[in-house]
Amino acid sequence: MMETNFLIIGSGAAGLTLAVKLAEKFPKKEVTVVTKAHQSESNTKYAQGGVAAVFDLKEDSFQKHIEDTLLAGDGLCDKEIVEMVIKEGPLRLKELMAWGANFDTNANGELTLGREGGHSKFRVIHHKDTTGNEIERALLERANQMPNIIMLPHHFAIDLITEHHFPKIESEEISCYGAYVLDQISGSVFTIKADCTTLASGGIGQVYGHTTNPAVATGDGIAMAYRAKARIKNMEFIQFHPTAFYDGKNQSSFLISEAVRGFGAFLRNKKGERFMFEYDSRGELASRDIVSRGIDSEMKNYGDDCVYLDCTHLNIDELKLHFPNIYETCLQKNIDLEKDWIPVVPASHYLCGGVVVDSDGKTSIKNLFACGECSYTGLHGANRLASNSLLEALVYADRIFKYTSKHLPSRTTIAIVEWNDSGTVMMNESEILKRKTFELQVLMRRFAGVVRNNKDLKEASLRLEELYAETEVLYQKHKLNTVLCQLRNMINVAHLIIQQSLIRKENRGGFYNEDLNKKNLKELI
Ligand code: FAD
Ligand code: SIN
Repeated sequence: MMETNFLIIGSGAAGLTLAVKLAEKFPKKEVTVVTKAHQSESNTKYAQGGVAAVFDLKEDSFQKHIEDTLLAGDGLCDKEIVEMVIKEGPLRLKELMAWGANFDTNANGELTLGREGGHSKFRVIHHKDTTGNEIERALLERANQMPNIIMLPHHFAIDLITEHHFPKIESEEISCYGAYVLDQISGSVFTIKADCTTLASGGIGQVYGHTTNPAVATGDGIAMAYRAKARIKNMEFIQFHPTAFYDGKNQSSFLISEAVRGFGAFLRNKKGERFMFEYDSRGELASRDIVSRGIDSEMKNYGDDCVYLDCTHLNIDELKLHFPNIYETCLQKNIDLEKDWIPVVPASHYLCGGVVVDSDGKTSIKNLFACGECSYTGLHGANRLASNSLLEALVYADRIFKYTSKHLPSRTTIAIVEWNDSGTVMMNESEILKRKTFELQVLMRRFAGVVRNNKDLKEASLRLEELYAETEVLYQKHKLNTVLCQLRNMINVAHLIIQQSLIRKENRGGFYNEDLNKKNLKELI
């Protein structure tokens, strides 16, 4: 058994920001970061567009950023939280810059600001089109210099330790005492006992298979919190990014940043028509739920498998300067932005819901916090405004840091039960896990995608119950491995998405059930 003061699960923007702050403030305490792949692997690393924050007080204002966020959130944002995050945002970005993150500036040294869908002003701070990579680099460099941060890459958190692991203890309140962790290299499971645990485990994109998210985004933190009986909310609000590169395969796909549309690119259907103005007066710069549904509708109307993003009218030198990564990656895929249109489709991108937290990042379980994409704070409501996610991760890492600094939990005297896998055997049939994972992803794409209906959701729910039962048998019988644990977690997350979709009785933001409003889609959006 290992003991630590602060356990953080995940090494993206949320986890690393919190780790650095805690380690600096408490040099005599240990901060342990477990992360299930290479330490840089995360959604954060792939973020392109940037971080939305108000720096240009002549042209922009907090009020305008607040209004844009509330409009995208379609009536379901928590206004106080929106105001708090937007007002604290610039301070958190200045901190990040002081730690060594570089963002693009003009000749006068002023930040250059980009614009994305749903933003009424230019306010997106960026590092070319690889902003997330720069943030991850700066944070990791800082974290790796701190002697009291213990970084455990290739370690997979399996389950949170709460009273339900030792049923003899009677308690009204559920508390978290750390986590059981799988060493992915040796295959052994061990206990990390912690005074305070934070989930910073990111998103769920892999539940749909076709996603902008990397392979690590399997919703583990949300599934662990759900099994531990934490409150989970708004799981029906999956954000589908309108423009993921379409190459005919159903796997993680390359993102064509919304900032490219902000830069002036047009969306065209296969007939070459610029269709977005039929759906919204903001055209290509409508919020991304509207653009995704517009694309989905065009594809269904014409039986097409993708639409196109046209950059051919734009200044190619400027385009290459702002989007070098996108330009080069498209070229490798035989698409030359100067003369070819980019084939694009909506793909699962971001989860607006998650583990419910208050304004200090506290979950409904004592000594358990959640931060970043795995959490539900109230900022995004029914649909996240572009580039508000990294902002939320930075602000909430600071909120949790400030709260825990003032309310340091003490070490528990409860005897923690060690992981017991006696009687289990090694798993030989890894093909089964791949097949079941693929089946889950197809099920979610077909029955719980951009446009849903009650019949599909109920059908998905029935098959999911079977998948759940089959996977539980495998889980009980075998020594654990990453693929098995991830499949089990994704089934839990899919269950939450489907059940919460069935409960929602009105269409809002990123959630659209065609049975709830029989009007023509074009009239509705
Ligand atoms: P992540 O960065 O995803 O980190 C999660 C960490 O948890 C990872 O290290 C992962 O390995 C680890 N982990 C997960 N499960 C376990 C487990 N069981 N055990 C141990 N470790 C675990 N947002 C913006 O604001 N602006 C953008 O421009 C932008 N562009 C994006 C582009 C792409 C392609 C993608 C995919 C997302 C983009 N987003 C953007 C969203 C944003 O990047 C994420 O929401 C944000 O980075 C989430 O940060 P996080 O720290 O919460 O999670
Ligand atoms: C993008 O660059 O289009 C992604 C921005 C985001 O998800 O916030």
